[in-house]
Amino acid sequence: MRVDGQSFRTIWPDGDCVRIIDQRHLPFRFVIAELRGVADVAFAIREMQVRGAGLIGATAAWGMWFAARESCGDSASLLRLAHELAATRPTAVNLRWAIDRQLTAIRQALDPVETAFATARAIADEDAEACRRIGGHGLPLIAEIAARKPGRLPVQILTHCNAGWLAFVDFGSATAPIYAAHDSGIPVHVWVDETRPRNQGARLTAWELERHGVPHTVIPDNAGGHLMQHGRVDLVLTGSDRTTRTGDVANKIGTYLKALAARDNGVPFHVALPSSTFDWQARDGLTEIPIEERSDREVRWIDGEDEAGNLVSVRLFGETSPAVNHAFDVTPSRLVSGLITERGCCPATEEGILRLFPERGATASSF
Ligand code: MRU
Repeated sequence: MRVDGQSFRTIWPDGDCVRIIDQRHLPFRFVIAELRGVADVAFAIREMQVRGAGLIGATAAWGMWFAARESCGDSASLLRLAHELAATRPTAVNLRWAIDRQLTAIRQALDPVETAFATARAIADEDAEACRRIGGHGLPLIAEIAARKPGRLPVQILTHCNAGWLAFVDFGSATAPIYAAHDSGIPVHVWVDETRPRNQGARLTAWELERHGVPHTVIPDNAGGHLMQHGRVDLVLTGSDRTTRTGDVANKIGTYLKALAARDNGVPFHVALPSSTFDWQARDGLTEIPIEERSDREVRWIDGEDEAGNLVSVRLFGETSPAVNHAFDVTPSRLVSGLITERGCCPATEEGILRLFPERGATASSF
């Protein structure tokens, strides 16, 4: 995607290192950071310099290139570094998927470092291409809604968190159909949930949509139900960090409440995801998907810019009240109207998913 006229991906190799957009500073500063080894990659994922399922996977893939270099052909140390990367964040399955794929490739390679580089590049390119295709497959959904409300446009779409190009290598999952609709001349307007506690919606999704010229409005997380009750949302479109083979969707905390409100108000609730976000081993999202619990600091404090343009952190409530920070929740498949993948759209059921991915009838992890 373009930032001030220049094309960017969220991650790219540069000589011996890997460069990323450090998302902790957006939307106030556009900072490029440099990763030089496995420790840098682990820090970048854990501290959310990079975040979002697809980008976490791509970053881990580049991390495995460093791991191949740092392990110098020693398979025990390669595995130790792989586990170090895998332990950074538990919910987005793209992390494990990318490491797993790298391990398989490296173990079969004559030149592990060269193979790890090629595999990381392929994972990043495939992520971008999958998201581009998701845009194409999701476009008719928005076009159909537009056709049903002539004279009452734009199509009103509500999204939660950031499943935009910043969460992937390019294009995004939930935002790809939105960009495709906007680019093809369909008037759209996006309600952007702020997405407490880290505000990925307000800070990242709004920034992305603004850069692309897509009309949008940031709303507090608890406003979506009210807007739906008043007919001001035509479609809820989110991403996913992990989706079971039966269609249960783990996504940023608060997604479940939007799905409940959507169901109560007859608003379709769709989830866009590349196939790297399916957990083919998991059947029950509530019991089988690990939910990350992050530091309570993210609830207690808020980061932003003051009127003088200084980046500041502000304490939000009394120091002695306990706080808890579950980063994701699970929306059961029964509340999901449909999935949008790089192979097309399907119902959020095992049967529907396997119709698009028949080769996943049985799978095993090598790691
Ligand atoms: O904690 P994050 O920012 O890595 O969470 C990921 C997300 O941004 C969302 O849950 C998103 O909707 C799915 S990731 C494409």
